[in-house]
Amino acid sequence: MGNGIAQVAARAGFDVVMRDVADEFLARGMKAIDKSLQRDVDKERLSAEEKAIIISRIKTTTDIASLSSAFIVVEAVTEDLGVKTEVFRSLDGVTGPEAILASNTSSISITKLGATTRRPDKVIGMHFMNPVPVMKLVEIIRGAATSDETYEKTRALTAKLGKVPLECHDSPGFISNRVLMPMINEAIFALYEGVASRESIDGIMKLGMNHPMGPLTLADFIGLDVCLAIMNVLHDGFGDSKYRPCPLLKRYVDAGWLGRKSGRGFYEY
Ligand code: 3HC
Repeated sequence: MGNGIAQVAARAGFDVVMRDVADEFLARGMKAIDKSLQRDVDKERLSAEEKAIIISRIKTTTDIASLSSAFIVVEAVTEDLGVKTEVFRSLDGVTGPEAILASNTSSISITKLGATTRRPDKVIGMHFMNPVPVMKLVEIIRGAATSDETYEKTRALTAKLGKVPLECHDSPGFISNRVLMPMINEAIFALYEGVASRESIDGIMKLGMNHPMGPLTLADFIGLDVCLAIMNVLHDGFGDSKYRPCPLLKRYVDAGWLGRKSGRGFYEY
């Protein structure tokens, strides 16, 4: 997600600093950006020169202090409250007092993340969808303390990125994952109970509902560990058994079958 966000910002004309914990992850991110932009060069929607200029706007670093002059930082680290909290504390220390700290979290509370900083009014959710260069939506999440000014600036920036900002209050799973994940989880239950094969479940939803991908294919695309983490946030946040993650989803994650990224999920890659 991080490289997709960097790509979209650079394409919109912004100078971007992409930070990760190791050079190999940064190299992988830059490779993904190159591949994604090359699609548009091949389709003659972007010239090779324009592609080179976009890439030259992205600097990579492992040093979080390199973000010190950013007017906004979009965090896209692993979906774990402890890890995100640590990153937000560090960002609060290294960035200027006016900088907005946005999180691309798919379900973690923006209010909680804001409370770990000295600027909760400048903390907001910017939830991009995968694949970031293609998907139009950015779900904008206001935490309890997010100011109107921060919201307005984030909304305007999202529009400059060529995306559509849609607002939502801070609540487990926001809107996108509160609606999407129970559907995916239900599809996994149907597979678990032997109601239909993986191909039938996906085909029924693709052909019958006009979804671009069936729910099991989509789960593999998102990552089964991410799906499980989101179901756990919904389950804990609402305390309602309708959000219990399917045992089959847990079993696959335990086995390391995380979907496309690990070569196996509900399908083999
Ligand atoms: N970068 C740039 N362009 C890309 C791309 C990428 N990584 N991946 C696909 N594309 C472009 C292709 O070039 C193509 O462009 P064109 O139609 O203008 O020529 C277009 O997208 C369609 O791609 P393909 O023809 O290769 O394949 P599909 O038609 O199967 O589309 C898909 C691929 C866009 C991924 C489509 O299957 C889809 O929309 N799937 C659902 C995605 C979805 O639901 N995303 C949300 C996930 S939930 C989430 O992210 C939230 C998180 O919190 C869990």
